[in-house]
Order: sequence, then structure tokens, then C-alpha cells
Amino acid sequence: MKILVTGGAGFIGSNFIYHELAQHNDNIICLDLLTYAGNLSTLKDALKDDRLQFVKGDIADRKFIYNLFEQEKPDIVVNFAAESHVDRSIETPEIFLQTNIIGTSVLMDACRKYGIKRYHQVSTDEVYGDLPLDRPDLFFTEETPLHTSSPYSSSKASADLLVQSYHRTFNLPVTISRCSNNYGPYHFPEKLIPLMIINALADKKLPVYGTGENVRDWLYVEDHCRAIDLIIRNGKVGEIYNVGGHNEKTNLDVVKTVLQELGKSEDLIEFVADRLGHDRRYAIDPAKIHNELGWLPETSFTVGIKKTVKWYLNNKDWWQQIVNGSYKDYYTKMYAHK
Ligand SMILES: NC(=O)c1ccc[n+]([C@@H]2O[C@H](COP(=O)([O-])OP(=O)(O)OC[C@H]3O[C@@H](n4cnc5c(N)ncnc54)[C@H](O)[C@@H]3O)[C@@H](O)[C@H]2O)c1
Repeated sequence: MKILVTGGAGFIGSNFIYHELAQHNDNIICLDLLTYAGNLSTLKDALKDDRLQFVKGDIADRKFIYNLFEQEKPDIVVNFAAESHVDRSIETPEIFLQTNIIGTSVLMDACRKYGIKRYHQVSTDEVYGDLPLDRPDLFFTEETPLHTSSPYSSSKASADLLVQSYHRTFNLPVTISRCSNNYGPYHFPEKLIPLMIINALADKKLPVYGTGENVRDWLYVEDHCRAIDLIIRNGKVGEIYNVGGHNEKTNLDVVKTVLQELGKSEDLIEFVADRLGHDRRYAIDPAKIHNELGWLPETSFTVGIKKTVKWYLNNKDWWQQIVNGSYKDYYTKMYAHK
């Protein structure tokens, strides 16, 4: 089988490629625009495997995407490609609409034109908005109404609606997964956990929004990859699957755990002005994927955070190249003469 993985040079997409190469014998094409968030050096080891091919391009570029589908005829598309950082969506919403909505529609049009066994949309629990902090009994199910807060989550919710409409109108064989916050290796240093690890290592202040009481439901990235793998192979066409690990933590607790793992003082914590429209609590009910596909998270937060901190300690080159900007040279070095 041939799987087209879009956004495969980003955090979750790259972890998914490593997962698929290890678990199956499929051919994979990674398509990525290599925006600031894409880092080809993340795939350095994976690219030693002949089953993986890298193509640089934009999912919203119709001509390019149609050419790629005509040449490669993928059996499955897994769409990770997105602008994914909420703070950036507050600064510049347009690019989020372009990639997350238009890009998704172009990919699905290509699937209709050239035929596909499955189109899978990687979505987020942020499409459900947030839950109150004083109602720990409430969880997002697949039936929870969409109720977005940021341009990022609005663009992801719009894409989800488009995906469902392509199933209903054109009978496109789609699935959607909506996952909670991921953490683990290859997470871009602007996101909460890697930012805190890197700042703490340099004894820099750790900026925490508001009072740090916002709650996120953390899932180790490998568990998310296993869930997507199960959905594309065994999931029911037309269905949405929520993915989450019942690992709710306040942002402040996460930051304190990171400091503890690194043996650093909590004096490094600095409370900063809250994010606009900051969602209070996300919490996923993953009963459907458990009951239908047998999925359960395998890595607890206690184990996952230890593994993650260790990974950042052992892979300083990877994140230092991002912090100093030189990660952008990797593609030119590898592909300049190809
Ligand atoms: N990170 C999380 O906690 C989380 C949780 C749930 C869902 N998601 C979703 O999972 C997906 C992947 O998230 P991530 O954290 O790995 O994001 P990321 O920002 O690390 O990676 C996104 C990748 O997409 C690429 N890209 C961006 N625009 C593109 C375009 N127009 N054409 C081709 N490639 C493009 C980037 O270069 C990058 O490699 C996103 O759709 C996100 O909404 C993320």
C-alpha cells in the first residue's frame, strides 16, 4: 500500500512516519511545505529507508497536488499538514484559513479525481471549545457540538465540516480523529513542554499564561500514532474518533513536573498576561475508539514526561538547530542538487 502523509516533517506527522515504518511494510510519501514548523532533519533516519520518499510542496497548491496524485496514486492520505500554533493564529489568521481549510479541500478534490481507499483528517479536541474548570464530570464526546475559540480551532472545525460534507455529498471514504494535546520527541520548541524544558536547562524564566490553572488532557505522541494507524486500517468510513488519555493536568502542574525532572527551582516560573480567549479545560472521552477499535493509551503521563525530558537532554543538537535557525539549511543541503 502507498500512504501519502502530509505535514510529515512536523511533530506528530514525523512520529507517525517512524511508527508506520516500524510496524508495517507500506510505502510512504511525506509531503511537507517545510514551513517554520517543518524540519526535514527530523526524518534523517527514516529517509535511510527506501520505503520513504520526501516531496516538498503545498497542500493548497492544486496543480502541484493533482500532479503528485497522478504520478503516485496513493491508496491512503493522512493529513497532518496544518498551521498548528494558537498564538500564531491570533497574530495572522489568514494563513490558517489557507492551509487548514483550502489545503484540506484541495487534497480531498485530488482524492475524488484520482480515487482513494481512505482520506484521514487529523483534527483536534480544540474544535469542541472548552469545558468549565468546576465540572470535572464533563468530557468531550464525538457528539459534543463544535464551539471554537481561536482562529486555529475555527479553521480546524471548518476543515472537519468540509471532510464530513465530502463523505455525504461525494461518498469520499473519510475518517476524522480529534485528539487532545500531544507531547513527546520532535515537538517544536515554541510549544509548552519543550519550551519549558529548554528554558529550564538554560536557567531562563518559564512563562506561564495567567494563573496556570488551565487544564489540558496530555497524550504521549506514540499513543496518538497508534490510534491513527488503527483508524486508517480498521476504522469505519464516515466516522469521527476522539483520542485522549484521561491525563488531565493544569499547565502549572506540567511546568512544575518538568522542573522537578530537571532538578530546577520553581522560582524560574513567571506568570505572564493570559492568552486572548484562552480555553479553560479540554477533556476527551475516548470510549468510542476503545470500544470499536480496542485502542487504549499505553504511556502514562508520569512515564511519558520522563521519556520526553530524557529525549530533549539526549537530542540537544535537534532543538539547538531550531533555536539558532540552522535547521532550515538541512533541506537545501540534502536536496539542492536533486
Ligand atoms: N500538537 C498537538 O498537540 C495536536 C493535538 C491534536 C491535533 N493536532 C493536529 O495534528 C496535526 C499535526 O500537528 P503538529 O503538532 O504535528 O503540527 P506541526 O506544526 O508540528 O507540523 C505541521 C507540519 O505541516 C507542515 N505544513 C504547514 N503548512 C503546510 C502546507 N500548506 N502544505 C504542506 N505542509 C504544510 C509544516 O511544515 C509542518 O511540518 C495538525 O493538523 C494539528 O491540528 C495536533
